[in-house]
Amino acid sequence: MPATVIVGAQWGDEGKGKIVDLLAQDSDVVCRYQGGPNAGHTVIVDGETFKFRQLPSGIVSGKVSVLGNGCVVDPEVLLGEMDELAERGISVEGLRISGNAHLIMPWHIALDGASERRLGKLQIGTTRRGIGPAYADKASRIGIRVQDLLDPKILRQKIETALAEKNVWLERVYELQPFDLEEVAGRYEGYARRLREFVADTSLLVDVALREGKSVLLEGAQGTLLDLDHGTYPFVTSSNPVAGAAATGIGIGPTRIDKVLGVSKAYVTRVGAGPFPSEMEASVGARVRELGQEYGTVTGRERRPGWLDLVGLRYAVRLNGITSLALTKLDVLSTFDELRICVRYRLPDGSETPDFPAHQSDFHHCEAVLETLPGWHEPLDDCSSVADLPPAARAYVERVERELEVPVQLVGTGAEREQVLARG
Ligand code: IMP
Repeated sequence: MPATVIVGAQWGDEGKGKIVDLLAQDSDVVCRYQGGPNAGHTVIVDGETFKFRQLPSGIVSGKVSVLGNGCVVDPEVLLGEMDELAERGISVEGLRISGNAHLIMPWHIALDGASERRLGKLQIGTTRRGIGPAYADKASRIGIRVQDLLDPKILRQKIETALAEKNVWLERVYELQPFDLEEVAGRYEGYARRLREFVADTSLLVDVALREGKSVLLEGAQGTLLDLDHGTYPFVTSSNPVAGAAATGIGIGPTRIDKVLGVSKAYVTRVGAGPFPSEMEASVGARVRELGQEYGTVTGRERRPGWLDLVGLRYAVRLNGITSLALTKLDVLSTFDELRICVRYRLPDGSETPDFPAHQSDFHHCEAVLETLPGWHEPLDDCSSVADLPPAARAYVERVERELEVPVQLVGTGAEREQVLARG
């Protein structure tokens, strides 16, 4: 049985949560390999909506659910979600957290907000959950890890060392209140008591599962164009959502990964600042935002809608080695006479390219070359296979396949778990 990576092929919010939830039904282990509570995964089961920021989406299906070493963990958010699930009668017994994952500390959240405020007009538009500062401390080798929760003495020492520096930044650079050692240490010791039973060697756990022939899903958060190395830097997150990072973020070799499923909406959205060549004109964008309920799960912010961008998707196929695609929210497009898709970018020198520009100045100044395709008005609710789709909707899906040379294996036609058409 294979290890499958599920990766966002756009700027996040592609509907990965729903696809993970669907595939989790046939999987044994579901793992998140990067990101933290900046992610927002919505899963709807039997009309009940679950919104996760920190937990892997597999948890609603009662699967072994791993937060890998590549994740950053905010214990307050995590425990809040665990309590909410418990209240709704869902067990979180299957949760396993890598001891090597890093903790988001209160100063990370304070510094994320303060740094955005200081950037003013140049701000990245982060989720202000402390993601960037937590990964920065990891890279600087001064982070506090989940395994530090297991030893109260070490935990207190590390908090004390960190605060000696962070409080100077908070007070002198940002003119904010400092954090109190006793208060933070006491709070995190409380989290430690509740979380310690879930801390595990998750690299070994996944290795054993794969050796036993079990099926493992490796779930990415955010999306390819938000990747720290390959995305639209600096308007990116501070980790690597691309599929290759699943191996590092879980602690398995790249040869263990068999399949990479890219998830893309039938259109595209972006949250936060940054260039966006296929962005829809305001009135059309507002319509798609309402139809697709395009508001951030974590922040509630309006998402910016755009026409499907095949240049961006081609780039995602290349970077992730995508072997098949899930095209979500096709139903949202059901009311348009005509649809547009971005087939190439026109660069500032007038040339056109099907490939994503390697340099920011080209990307920042390029224009989308759009083609017009016929739309459809029939609702997709009654379709039980891709073959049942209205001809124009089927042609739309087939056009994507042809352009990207990758099969579209799943098509999303509504919010519920059942509203996904499988192909082949
Ligand atoms: P951060 O990850 O909070 O540091 O935010 C960095 C950038 O990534 C911002 O543009 C965010 O809007 C974006 N971002 C982070 N997480 C998500 C997500 O789950 N969906 C969409 N955008 C996200």
